[in-house]
Amino acid sequence: MHNLNLHLKQQPLDHAYALDAAFYRDNAILALENQHIFNSQWQLVGHTSQIQNIGDQLTIQIGDLPVIIVRKQKDELVALHNVCRHRAGPLSVETSRVESEKPPVLRCQYHGWSYDLDGQLKTAPEMQSTKDFNPFEHHLPKANLEIWQNLIFVCIQKPQKTLNEMLKGIAPQIKPINLKTMQFHHRDEYLINCNWKVYMDNYLEGYHLPHVHPGLSRLLDYRQYTTKLYDDYSYQFSPLDNQQNNNAGIYYGEGSAHYYTIFPNLMLNILPGRLQTNVILPAGANQTRIIFDYYYSDLHSDNTQKLIEQDQNFSDEVQQEDIEICEKVQLGLNSGSYIAGPLCEKREQGLVHFQNLIRKYLAPVLTYKS
Ligand code: FES
Ligand SMILES: [Fe+2]
Repeated sequence: MHNLNLHLKQQPLDHAYALDAAFYRDNAILALENQHIFNSQWQLVGHTSQIQNIGDQLTIQIGDLPVIIVRKQKDELVALHNVCRHRAGPLSVETSRVESEKPPVLRCQYHGWSYDLDGQLKTAPEMQSTKDFNPFEHHLPKANLEIWQNLIFVCIQKPQKTLNEMLKGIAPQIKPINLKTMQFHHRDEYLINCNWKVYMDNYLEGYHLPHVHPGLSRLLDYRQYTTKLYDDYSYQFSPLDNQQNNNAGIYYGEGSAHYYTIFPNLMLNILPGRLQTNVILPAGANQTRIIFDYYYSDLHSDNTQKLIEQDQNFSDEVQQEDIEICEKVQLGLNSGSYIAGPLCEKREQGLVHFQNLIRKYLAPVLTYKS
């Protein structure tokens, strides 16, 4: 148990205080977040189109745990702990050279033990003379896996809700946009020097727009943003004014822009014909890995080509501005000067919602002085 002076009480929207600095700089907090948040929540790992053939694999680290996701059958994916039962080596799929001769296996890259795609140990070189060694006693633990709109999610522990239950409101809300039509285009990655929650907080409010993104706030009508809060996600919405877009030299088409923040660390940025997913992964208490994946509904149309070009020019600029301010905020949080400050009721509701969820999961495992 930790005895940090943290505000762990749920904060009311109209009278909320931010999280204490210790939440953003303490390795013990990160260890608890890995154990009690990242291990118990659904994590986006990729798209079904990235592993189309039997034996195709994806790997990811969730909290402290490396995970491997493999296509076992045409219509079946499995997620397994990527930690060999011999001495914790990493595994990789090995497919037979002659197709259909033998099913693929998971081979450990350290001493060559092999497992079937259900995680059962099958062979272990030169172990025959080892007393009491029984391959059937060794298998890789499974993680839970679900697919939503062709996006693959994994949950290490037993999930509290199915993914479909948790996200069920999204597909009807974004109509006529259909996420199932999106095709993967490319990935951008960033490693930045701040706690993962600094980046989340920043994404969750438009309050900083006029100050941090002068270019962006000329294009978007910042007053029109609305935020709605749901159990496990928050939703920011803005109608797109086609005329205004064109005048501003960008082209998003007609319709609406939908921005979802799904607890704990996923953003879905949805525009007509385009989906961008952001996954925010802690890489230490003071470092964060950010993965942006871009998807478009019709990769070959002229309109999509314009969107791709525009996303590239535009996202980079905005992202650099956000990175710069987040890294400076981390210095402020590390300074020893900061005491949790009051939040803006009008502009920071999404942030209060996120921080209350952090409190909900961490309060039972932390002691506090009120
Ligand atoms: S660690 Fe996997 S075979 Fe040794
Ligand atoms: Fe920003």
